[in-house]
Amino acid sequence: MAPALRGLIVVLALAGCERLPDREPLTGGDPKHGRSLIREFGCGSCHRISGVPGANASVAPPLEKLKSRVYLAGRFANTPQNLVAWIHDPRAMDSQTAMPAVGVDEQQARDIAAYLYTR
Ligand code: HEC
Repeated sequence: MAPALRGLIVVLALAGCERLPDREPLTGGDPKHGRSLIREFGCGSCHRISGVPGANASVAPPLEKLKSRVYLAGRFANTPQNLVAWIHDPRAMDSQTAMPAVGVDEQQARDIAAYLYTR
């Protein structure tokens, strides 16, 4: 194979797999696992989430720049603990929210929160 072509293939392969840390410091969760859980639980059917193929709905707010936000869902302090609790069971925090609990357990919520804090 021509070296130029081989170089191009390497570049394309790298572009497709974004590097994520093994541990995200705020949550202690695993962002790579979080990203696959986001797909598994269908968060992208309501939210736009960068780096997750197919997660481009606009039913709910886009989940971007969460790390720099002051509030979650407009009313809770944006702490790692609140983010994990929200993902685990939003209606336990606010019985009126339109976001349903989708069956994410606490460890899974931690990994998902870890991914969201990398956005
Ligand atoms: C059926 C649609 C739906 C699904 C599925 C859904 N959400 Fe939500 N989500 C919402 C809505 C609506 C809100 C806004 C809630 C509010 O402000 O009361 C929300 C809010 C949020 C927020 C707070 C956003 C902000 O801007 O402060 C986070 C974080 C979040 N969702 C994460 C997730 C994750 C992670 C999943 C998958 C495990 C998920 N959501 C699945 C509808 C959904």
